[in-house]
Amino acid sequence: MAWRDHPESLFGEAAAFVTAHGVETPELAIILGSGLGSLADEIEEAVTIPFAEIPGFPRGQVSGHAKALVSGMLEGRRVIVFAGRSHYYEGGDPAVMKVPLGLLTRLGAPPVLATNAAGSVNPAMAPGDVVAISDHISLGAPNPLVGDTDERRFVPMAEAYSPALRARLQRAAARAGLALAEGVYMWWTGPSFETPAEIRLAQRVGADLVGMSTVPEVIMARRLGLEIAALSIVTNYGTGMQVVAPNHMETKHVADAAAPRLKRLVRAFLKESEHG
Ligand code: HPA
Repeated sequence: MAWRDHPESLFGEAAAFVTAHGVETPELAIILGSGLGSLADEIEEAVTIPFAEIPGFPRGQVSGHAKALVSGMLEGRRVIVFAGRSHYYEGGDPAVMKVPLGLLTRLGAPPVLATNAAGSVNPAMAPGDVVAISDHISLGAPNPLVGDTDERRFVPMAEAYSPALRARLQRAAARAGLALAEGVYMWWTGPSFETPAEIRLAQRVGADLVGMSTVPEVIMARRLGLEIAALSIVTNYGTGMQVVAPNHMETKHVADAAAPRLKRLVRAFLKESEHG
C-alpha cells in the first residue's frame, strides 16, 4: 500500500459520510498519539465514528480500542479528533493517513495538531516533558509520497512545522504556566525500539527526540496543503541512556501520567488567538 492506493476521490466520499453523521467544519484537527486518547473523552457534544466505518479510512486497533474520529466542542471551539492514528509499522504503508488528512481538506482545511509519545536523546528533555517539534529527520525512511505523479509531490519542507502554530503554542504554554521546549524529532519506523548505537547516531545528527510516528503525516499534510504542528510527550530516554531499556509499558504509563499537562496545553492553544 502506498500513495496511489488511496485515491483522492475518497477524500470527498469520506467527508460526505462524516458530514451526513453530523460532523461540522472544525477550527482545529487533533491527532492523538499513544496514551493520549483520553482527550477525546473531554469533547462536548461529541459525535464518534469508528475509522472502520468511514470510506477509505485505515482499519485496526490500538491497545484494544477501535480507532475513531470524534467531532465536537473543546473550549468553545469546534474540533475534529483522530483518536488513535495509524502507523507505518502496522502494515507497511507510509501513506496510511492520506484519507484522514485528505478528508480535512474537504472540511475547510483546518490547522492540524499532531501529538505523540517520544523518546528523548537530549538529557535536557526529561520523561514527562512536553516538547514542540521544530523540525524532523527521516533518514532513508519510507516517504508517503512515493508513487505520487503530481508536480506537487516535490514538497518544500523548510517550514514544515508551522512557525505560526508553534508561536501560538508558545503563547498558550506561557499563559498556562507550562514550559515548552522545541526539539528535532527523528523518525524510526519501529515497531522495535532503537539500539544504543542508533541512539548515539541520533544524538550526533542533531536529533532531540526519537519516535515511530508523525513524520509521514507531516509530509502528507504539507503535500495536501494543510498547516501542521506537532507535540511530543517525552516518555523515556533513548536506549542506552537509562538503566532500564525503554519499553511499551513504560511509554504508556508515562504518557498517561503526563497527559493532563498536554491537555492543558491543547486547551490553552484553543483559547489563544491565531495572531499574537
Ligand atoms: N523510541 C521510539 N519511539 C518511542 C520511544 C523511543 O524510545 N519512546 C516512545 N516512543
